[in-house]
Amino acid sequence: MSTIGIVAERPGETRVAATPDTVAKLRALGYEVAVERGAGAASSFPDPAYAEQGAELVDRAAAWGADVVLKVVAPTDDEIALLHDGSTLVALLSPAQRPELLEALRSRGVTALAMDAVPRISRAQSLDVLSSMANISGYRAVVEAANEFGRFFTGQITAAGKVPPAKVLVAGVGVAGLAAIGTAASLGAIVRATDPRPEVADQVKSVGGEYLAVEVGEQMVSTDGYAKATSEAYDARAAEIYSEQAAEVDIVITTAAIPGRAAPRLLTAADVASMKPGSVIVDLAAGSGGNVEGSVAGERVVTANGVVILGYTDLAGRLPGQASQLYSTNVLNLLKLVTPEKNGVLALDLEDVVQRSITVTRAGETTWPPPAVQVSATPAAASSPPVEIAPKKERRGLRTALVLLGIAVLFAVCAFAPPPLPQNFLVLTLSVVVGFYVIGHVAHALHTPLMSVTNAISGIIVVGALVQLVSPSLLVQVLAAVAVLLASINIFGGFAVTRRMLAMFAAGASR
Ligand code: NAI
Repeated sequence: MSTIGIVAERPGETRVAATPDTVAKLRALGYEVAVERGAGAASSFPDPAYAEQGAELVDRAAAWGADVVLKVVAPTDDEIALLHDGSTLVALLSPAQRPELLEALRSRGVTALAMDAVPRISRAQSLDVLSSMANISGYRAVVEAANEFGRFFTGQITAAGKVPPAKVLVAGVGVAGLAAIGTAASLGAIVRATDPRPEVADQVKSVGGEYLAVEVGEQMVSTDGYAKATSEAYDARAAEIYSEQAAEVDIVITTAAIPGRAAPRLLTAADVASMKPGSVIVDLAAGSGGNVEGSVAGERVVTANGVVILGYTDLAGRLPGQASQLYSTNVLNLLKLVTPEKNGVLALDLEDVVQRSITVTRAGETTWPPPAVQVSATPAAASSPPVEIAPKKERRGLRTALVLLGIAVLFAVCAFAPPPLPQNFLVLTLSVVVGFYVIGHVAHALHTPLMSVTNAISGIIVVGALVQLVSPSLLVQVLAAVAVLLASINIFGGFAVTRRMLAMFAAGASR
């Protein structure tokens, strides 16, 4: 049985790699857990809370001397010296940026697992620390902006006058951007957002924002959830949009990032200078070069025209309890993955892409970078044969031909069929046309009430078909019976689906 050590972070880092709750779950996996005294203090997890869950409280050397050491930020050289040969370290290691750290860990014979190297694939989502932290940071960015901004986010009509809602621009709609849009919208602001990946438009809308498309010839389609570098044409058009928006909005939150590159510059000093005094910018990418000219990593800057630019790089750590809870859950999920027998023995399986991706040093070797992982946020275009879609003009011609054919059939029926067939046929045709336009324009969100309406129509069909069942014609009887059957399926199926959805809502509300 191995021992897990939870070590205290260096001063200034508020997060901790395990909470009392996850300590209990780590023990259920068969591990002994040793917590360095005071490790959870900055996240409001006092030592006795760990002890209650069965952890042993130990000094620094004992925690670092454990078989598996769990940590948040990368260790210093002094800390690496405390690790014992053959131990495993789990932390945020920035393997791509810090080759010297990997070398230090390799030379100590440590197996290092980088929590920030989890691939962005659905199976690994429960381990995805970067998303967990970005989510918190997006939320906190809005809270920081609201703290600096001298006005309401929401619009109000008061006895003392009308207050307009604040206007917020979010640049970059990844995990942090979406969290920022949702938070600002829930505070009542008007939120606009832009991103080179057009597939995010629906996501922006679903969290209460408006998507600003940068319209240029080519479209960027992401196959892995990350953006590629944008084209010159894109940047030029985007720059115009940023200039227009900067002069108009009150708050800008920038989160644009391209993996492996410096953060793209989105707002120039001139854009910042055009903003109203009292406006606030939060540059989440300040630590990697900055999306905004004039932002300084870790600093609050006030420009000559009174715009506050926040370049904080510890936004997740500003919600220490929440960040520790999510980080430690991600780490716990990793330990569940590498302890399949629940016997307190860590068994790495390097055939597994997730485990292989995060293993950066092992048995005296550097194993970074891992082989590329085939991930797919949207299906890769090359993997499927191109679907032949008729050009717009051709499709329009086809539709016109169909409409003309329909009109010709209508006239033929009216001219030659005996009454009352022409009248019935006319009613049917008009119903199809009206139904097509009415139902075709109902928003997706209203499809459930629409289903209720179709249930009501099915009810009318059942009544009509029951009347026809007494018809002397066998054909009419059979058709009426089929109509009763199909309409009943619609009615009862509709009820079953509605019931299920209501149960889901009830479960969501009680959570
Ligand atoms: P992400 O990769 O999920 O999202 C980045 C988004 O930027 C993508 O949607 C991408 O399409 C977009 N983008 C790329 N180029 C762009 C351009 N030229 N214009 C507009 N959008 C563009 O990244 P995530 O996880 O949301 O993180 C965002 C940023 O926040 C990163 O720079 C990350 O390092 C930083 N971050 C900062 C923290 C802090 O405390 N300051 C904490 C956590 C993350």
